[in-house]
Amino acid sequence: MAQETVKITINGKEVVAPKGTLIIEAAAQAGVEIPHYCYHPHLSRPAVCRMCLVDVEGQRKLQPSCSTPVQPGQVIRTDSPKVQEAVREVLEFTLINHPLDCPVCDQAGECGLQNNYQDYGLYNTKFTLPKVHKAKVQKIGPTLTLDAERCILCSRCVRFTDEITKTHEMGIMQRGDHAEIQAVKEVNNPYSTNLADICPVGALTQNDFRFKVRVWYLKHQQSICPGCARGCNIVVDHYRGEAQRMRPRNNNAVNQSWMCDDGRLLYKAIRNEDRLNAPMLRKDGKRVAVTPSVAFSEALRLLEKHAKHTATQGSASVSNEDAFALARLLKMMQAPVASSLRESPVGWEDDALLRRADRTPNRNGVSAFSGTEEFAVRLKTATLALVIQEDALPERSLYPQLAGVIYVGTHDCPTARSADVVLPMAMWAEYEGSFTNFQGRVQRFLSVVSAPEGVVPLWQLASRWSEAFGGKRYASAAEVFRAMATEHPLFAKMTFDGLGEIGLCAPSADQSKEA
Ligand code: SF4
Ligand code: SF4
Ligand code: FES
Repeated sequence: MAQETVKITINGKEVVAPKGTLIIEAAAQAGVEIPHYCYHPHLSRPAVCRMCLVDVEGQRKLQPSCSTPVQPGQVIRTDSPKVQEAVREVLEFTLINHPLDCPVCDQAGECGLQNNYQDYGLYNTKFTLPKVHKAKVQKIGPTLTLDAERCILCSRCVRFTDEITKTHEMGIMQRGDHAEIQAVKEVNNPYSTNLADICPVGALTQNDFRFKVRVWYLKHQQSICPGCARGCNIVVDHYRGEAQRMRPRNNNAVNQSWMCDDGRLLYKAIRNEDRLNAPMLRKDGKRVAVTPSVAFSEALRLLEKHAKHTATQGSASVSNEDAFALARLLKMMQAPVASSLRESPVGWEDDALLRRADRTPNRNGVSAFSGTEEFAVRLKTATLALVIQEDALPERSLYPQLAGVIYVGTHDCPTARSADVVLPMAMWAEYEGSFTNFQGRVQRFLSVVSAPEGVVPLWQLASRWSEAFGGKRYASAAEVFRAMATEHPLFAKMTFDGLGEIGLCAPSADQSKEA
């Protein structure tokens, strides 16, 4: 059934919005930004900050646009002198006791107070009395620092811990100009760092990012968190070729505006000490670094020699394009198509908000290209093992018939240490591709930083090896995606670019799993 809509006018422009839409949201959809602090699309709307006041024709008083739904024929102005004066006065009131310590505040550059003062303030203060001081630099949990003096009492953090995590750590105590935000107990819930995102000022900052980089130097790239089967939509902020932080990106069907604390720190794995940066061959029992082309050729020699007798361990952490190209290679080799995927480690259950017990980002996508034969079973008779990303063969001595082991992965592990050829592969933040989350939503991630020199994604290695068996060598992830889309119903009618910013659901996906 078609959604009922209403016509309104905002600043002289006709706007059509679904019935029930709030004025602030209808304005945003029409490209008109209304300043706000307490409003957040995924929290309740107490309308306490009064920054979002607008002039609605026929109404004597200005109306809070964050709690007023559109009505047919409404004529709204967000830029009238009356609105501008009201917003300026609210801002002046909000700043009366603010410490104005912007030079030493880590929110500077992305602060709602600074930005709104620049756009709507620019007044000379009339306030001459001493300011009320409040507690500064309080560690309120492992992930957050609270500066109560900078708080503007928007209550977003209180509502987040009451309504989203239901852990109730934050509260506003006292009254009047002594009202103060406080952590009533340690803030230690698995989603605590979202508080730093939603705090519009520098009152709540994330310990991991404090004073690391001034935010105006950061560049931003859209991506997908690889931490579990949810596939939260994220932005990776990077500086001088290194990822500096991960933040949630809005996708109402997947993660709304949130992500978990564990996922947020996964950018650190890109530069972990155990990261594999250079290809290696085993010579006289020792690992020796070699050039990528030497390692590639040696791996190819083994694949050609043992083609049909290869056991392959796949991984649910690689992209759809990686899994497809690998399956293609194995078909060309006439080897069993990549064997079973390993189970996720125990210890992390599905929770009520986002986190999935399956800690891999792409089990759904990779399974589409997996065979049924167990790696462990196949290993008993195989003469070559090709292990992708997993520590699946830590005790090679149990398989004396194996003439060779090729390990393709991102980090060192016992399997990599016993392999004859080690080929490092690019991590999710170093190339572009797609994951299919537990809902069946195919989501694209883009390259954020460069991979170590000579390190490429698995799909490139697999398609180059395929070429030697008479297969096709793909030039880009988009080209692999095109081939996938013609061959597998999970990707039918999709294009790589068509995945856009929030992904697409396969026709067969279970829509009831959407957030
Ligand atoms: S700490 Fe931040 S989010 Fe919480 S009430 Fe104060 S300004 Fe709002
Ligand atoms: S819930 Fe999963 S996908 Fe989302 S941030 Fe956490 S680990 Fe990443
Ligand atoms: S955003 Fe509307 S009152 Fe705060």
